This record gives sequence, structure tokens and C-alpha cells, in this order.
Amino acid sequence: MTGLAEHKAHFRVVGSGRLTNSWSVLCLTRMSQFTPTRLLLLFFLGFYVALSIPEDPINCFTRNTNCTVTNSYAIFPDRSICEAQQVFYPAQEEDLLKLVASATQNGKKVKVATRFSHSIPKWVCPEGHNGWLISTKYLNRVMEIDAEKRTMRVQSGVTLKQVVDEAAKAGLALPYTPYWWGLTIGGILGTGAHGSSLWGQGSSVHEQVVELRIVTPAPPADGYAKVRTLSEEDEHLNAAKVSLGLLGVISQITLKLEPLFKRSITYLTKNDSDLGDEAITFGQQHEFADIIWYPHQRKAVYRVDDRVPINTSGNGVYDFIPFRPTPSLQLALLRITEDVQEFNGDADGKCLLAMTATNTLMANAYGLTNNGIIFTGFPVVGFHNHLQASGSCLDSDMKGKKTSCPWDSRVKGEFFHQTTFSIGLSVVKKFIEDVQKLVELEPKGFCGIEMYNGVLMRYVKASSAYLGKQEDAVDFDLTYYRSKEPMNPRLHEDIIEEIEQIGIFKYGGLPHWGKNRNVAFEGVIKKYKNADKFLKVKDEYDSQRLFSSEWTDQVLGLKEGLTVSMDGCALEGLCICSHDSHCAPSKGYFCRPGKVYKEAKICTRSGS
Ligand SMILES: Cc1cc2nc3c(=O)[nH]c(=O)nc-3n(C[C@H](O)[C@H](O)[C@H](O)COP(=O)(O)OP(=O)(O)OC[C@H]3O[C@@H](n4cnc5c(N)ncnc54)[C@H](O)[C@@H]3O)c2cc1C
Ligand SMILES: *[C@@H]1O[C@H](CO)[C@@H](O)[C@H](O)[C@H]1NC(C)=O
Ligand SMILES: *[C@@H]1O[C@H](CO)[C@@H](O)[C@H](O)[C@H]1NC(C)=O
Ligand SMILES: *[C@@H]1O[C@H](CO)[C@@H](O)[C@H](O)[C@H]1NC(C)=O
Repeated sequence: MTGLAEHKAHFRVVGSGRLTNSWSVLCLTRMSQFTPTRLLLLFFLGFYVALSIPEDPINCFTRNTNCTVTNSYAIFPDRSICEAQQVFYPAQEEDLLKLVASATQNGKKVKVATRFSHSIPKWVCPEGHNGWLISTKYLNRVMEIDAEKRTMRVQSGVTLKQVVDEAAKAGLALPYTPYWWGLTIGGILGTGAHGSSLWGQGSSVHEQVVELRIVTPAPPADGYAKVRTLSEEDEHLNAAKVSLGLLGVISQITLKLEPLFKRSITYLTKNDSDLGDEAITFGQQHEFADIIWYPHQRKAVYRVDDRVPINTSGNGVYDFIPFRPTPSLQLALLRITEDVQEFNGDADGKCLLAMTATNTLMANAYGLTNNGIIFTGFPVVGFHNHLQASGSCLDSDMKGKKTSCPWDSRVKGEFFHQTTFSIGLSVVKKFIEDVQKLVELEPKGFCGIEMYNGVLMRYVKASSAYLGKQEDAVDFDLTYYRSKEPMNPRLHEDIIEEIEQIGIFKYGGLPHWGKNRNVAFEGVIKKYKNADKFLKVKDEYDSQRLFSSEWTDQVLGLKEGLTVSMDGCALEGLCICSHDSHCAPSKGYFCRPGKVYKEAKICTRSGS
């Protein structure tokens, strides 16, 4: 035990409501629910493990052999953990060549893993139990910055944070990136990750790649492996810049940068009655526009965000509150509250909590400050490298402070699913209106999503990548509670399932490759007009399918079995229900048609 003094210190942190993140306030308001016995129990359950930066997603029984690999949430959508016989940590391209040659010669299944493994689906799993993992953890160097050409060449394991920081030191910027900097460039390209913009080439990082070096298997005559250098003129770059890790190991990436610039950000809150129309025009009006939608609160928060002249005064910083170091105790309290609300079917409790969280986030401008210290009002003006992405929870010194990222699997904290898909601009209004009809029918069904900061809407553009976006679109990002117990239905399960099916099937939405549950990938490959070109390049680069697995083949439509029929499968997104047993009949959830989209099949609580 760590001693009573320490417990007290933690109470003070929570009790004084110091704003480490929004949940502090929530915990305060919900404190009364927790009896002393329960709180004490919490302490004895041992939350005071000293933490360091996120755990390596690869764990080996013996040094680098006999390993398991997961994602940063420590579990895949089907609740499996994958195995590998051996993991390698190359530091340069020559090492990669040797490794891929050796794998090719021995017919070894192989996958690239990153230091983070921040994707939810199981892309990282080598097939079977005896595959190899090639980690990009030490492929972490910035190789060259060409100030004149405004390019930057990096190894594939370099983090987004490194790219942002190093570019800025040279007076340059990568304009469009994800909002979370705890990602590697290789991983970002792997899943087509993006920020939000309809301007220029759009918000995807892969649109800013000018050259890419990839190590692939090769025939014996070529030494079993080779480095392929793909430049913008090369047709194959369209396959390699969103590759799902299936073509080989990306060694180096050259990015196109721009001179560092300043931006001005203002959040505008409006009611959501005209959101369908606004969603279409807003993205054309502002370069870095995005929208946060709170359907139950009937609110939409518009991010008015544009470049301003470099001499505009302001030194704003974005440190998104949910990506800040969060005390483990606070996370545990929140998780227990959520578990209790789920158990009791307490929708009102969720709505109250969601409202408090939203108000706290809004009052603190989501973590924007005008000068790196406090928020004094809009607009917040600052340098692009301080505003585009954040993730201070990654480098919190977790020893002593006992904080972590909210989803860190080593503490009792957030555990969730993410459903994320993009809807073409031509139908986005209809999609939003369908969701609004659901809101009318079941307003409280949306509070669970609002507890995770609502629906994030971001702009993406049609891409030349074979597995990139097919048309200009709005990407919808929904995060929601997941039970530790696979057979437990979620409160208002039906609402989220119906939105998922409306988005993915009725309007042909494209799932984010790095998020989602299996159902979202059902038939996905038919939505890509150049899928056959991708498959051709895959066969050419990796004819032995070393970088593919049964699961990746299923997603690509090359094998059956992506979704399964078993008890409770719909609860986990492992199937669309067709029998009541796919839901949780003993807990009152049955397979029924959708309320707005009649073709949907969703797990609905009887009587609702
Ligand atoms: C908190 C959080 C915030 C996020 N925010 C955003 C966001 O704002 N926008 C967005 O679009 N996404 C976002 N994501 C999703 C994220 O961008 C993707 O899941 C991304 O792919 C994860 O990158 P990673 O470095 O962890 O790669 P991993 O998840 O480890 O790998 C992804 C895939 O890429 C492959 N791969 C990685 N490196 C290489 C390489 N060198 N060569 C070949 N293949 C490789 C892997 O094999 C795997 O198939 C977020 C995720 C989290 C957890
Ligand atoms: C791997 O480790 C586990 C647990 O220690 C052990 O049971 C298993 O036999 C090991 N396998 C190999 C191939 O070493
Ligand atoms: C939403 O705002 C518009 C003006 O922007 C107003 O006309 C409308 O009445 C409002 N709707 C609701 C439900 O408050
Ligand atoms: C910024 O610079 C431009 C010319 O480079 C000048 O016209 C403008 O007045 C300056 N603005 C500020 C706020 O200093």
C-alpha cells in the first residue's frame, strides 16, 4: 500500500476540482454516489501503479521471442490478442532489407508494428502463431529537411509530434494532419489518417507525400527483397500511400511542407436545426473547418479556423483536454460511474454527465489557450505547429503523478468502441436528417455519445489513393462505451447500431481503416473503384501473401467470414443481427428492424 497521505493528496486533486481535464468536474458532481466503502475498495484494487509512457503493444515471454501484440487498448474488436514468434527492431533500411529477405526465403508471415499501435482493428496481426513482427520503434529519425524544396524525409516510425516539431524548427509546416500526435507516419499512411479540410488536396496526410521508399519481397534472383522508390509520377504510389500494411515495409517517406503560418480559431455554437445545410457549405468557407455535433443537446459547435498573416499577434496553443494526462483515480471513478449507469439503465444520469462534460469543454475552449497558459477569449491566434495536433498525455511523467492517457489499458479507465465513416457531400444532408429523425424518437439515446464529446465531423477530399476517399465527404466520428463483458448489451445499443447501418449501408459510407468494428468493413472493397488496381500491386509486391492475414483477406473480400453468427455477435459488431440470440434476449435486447431505416437490423430493448 502506498500510504494514507497519498490517498489524501489524490482526494485534494479531485476535491479541489483542479482542471486536469473535463472529468474532474464530473467526478465532483458524482462524488456523492460513491460510498466510502466503494472509494476505499478503489484504493485497494491497486490503482497506484507507477506509469511511464504508453506500454509497448508488443510483449514477449523471452527476449524478443514468443510474443503477443495488441493495440493500445490492449484488445481487438473481437477481443482477441495476437501472437508472433519473434519481433525485430530494425534501425535502418539495410536491416529492413535483410529482414524482409529472410522472411521471403523462409515463407514467414510478417507484419509491421509501431510503438503505439493506435489502430483499433487487427491490421497488426501476422497470420497464425509463428509470424514475425517488424517494429518501427527505432526507425525514428528525421533524415533530411530541404528548406529550399520545402520537403522533409523521415523514417517511417517517426511520430507526428516529431514531424511537427522538426518542421517548425526549420520554419516549415505540414498543413494537414490528424489531431492526435501520438501516431507514426507509417501508421498514418497505413490507414489513410487525416485532419479536416476541403481546401487544396484536402486533409489526408497521404496527399502530402512526394516520395516513399518501401521494402518488399522479391524473387531469389533479386536477393529475396528490394527497395522500391515511388515518386509522385509513379502509378504505384497510389497503392502504397494507403497500403493497410499489406505491400511491404515502408522505410522512408518524403513529405511536402509549406512555410510555417499562423491560424485564427473561433468556436461558434449554434442550434443544429440547419446542420444538414451548414455541413455542406461550412467546409468550403474555412480552411480548417470542423464541427462537433451534440444531437441530444441540439447543438453544433463550428470551428471557424483560417490562416492569417504571420504578423498577426497571438501565441495560442491547443492542448486538447481529453488528450491531457489524467489522474488514474479520476478515470476509475468515471468508468465506475459509467458501469453503474449502464447497469441501471440510467439514461438521465448519462445525459446529465454529458451536459456537464460538454459545458466544461466549451467553457475551456476544448483546451485552446491564447498564450499557452490561459484562455481569455476568441479568436485564438497562433502558429500552426501549436494548434493542429496535441497529446500531452503521451509525455506526462507518470511516476509520482499517477496520470495517463484516458484509454491507457494499464489503468481502469475509458474502454470504448469507435464507429467512424465518411459520407459523401452529395448525401450528407440526408444522412444528418435521418439521424435527426432518430433524435426526435429517442433523444436520450445520444447521451452516451455526448459523454465522449459528441460526434466529430471532419472534411476529407477525394483521393488518388486506390484505398483513399472516393469523393469529397464529411467524416463522422462516434465514440461510445464498451463493456468489459462481451455479452452485456449497451444502453441504447439500437441507436448507435442504426446510425452505423444508415451511414455504412444506406449512404455507402467509407469506414476509417484505423477504427471501427468488423460490421463496418462488410462489403467495403466494393466501394473502391480502383480496388482491383490495389490488389494487383499487392500481388506483384507480395506474391506469397506474407504481409496478409486471413482477417485482411476477409476485409478485402478475398475470403468469407468477416462477420460471424454466434450468441451476442451483434453486441460486438461482429455481425448484423438476424436472430434474437445475436443480441441479448435474456437481458431484454432483441433483433428488430430500424426505427428510421427499416432495412437496418438492430438490437433493441423490448418495449422500446
Ligand atoms: C487518440 C487517437 C486519436 C486519433 N485521431 C485521429 C485523427 O485525428 N484522424 C485520423 O484520421 N485518425 C485518428 N486516429 C486513428 C489513427 O490515425 C490511425 O489508427 C493510425 O493508423 C494509427 O497510427 P499508428 O502509428 O499507431 O499505427 P498502427 O495502428 O500501429 O498501424 C496501422 C497500420 O499501418 C501499418 N504500418 C505502420 N507502419 C508501417 C510501415 N512503416 N510500413 C508498412 N506498414 C506500416 C501497420 O502494419 C498497420 O497495418 C486516432 C487514434 C487515436 C488512438
Ligand atoms: C511461450 O510462452 C508460454 C508462456 O510462458 C509457454 O507456455 C510456451 O510454451 C512458449 N512457447 C514457446 C514456443 O516458447
Ligand atoms: C435555431 O436557430 C435559428 C436561427 O439560427 C432559429 O431560426 C430557430 O428557431 C432555432 N431553432 C430552435 C429549435 O431553437
Ligand atoms: C503585417 O504586415 C503587412 C505587410 O507585410 C502590413 O501591411 C500590416 O499592417 C502588418 N500587420 C500588422 C498587424 O502588423
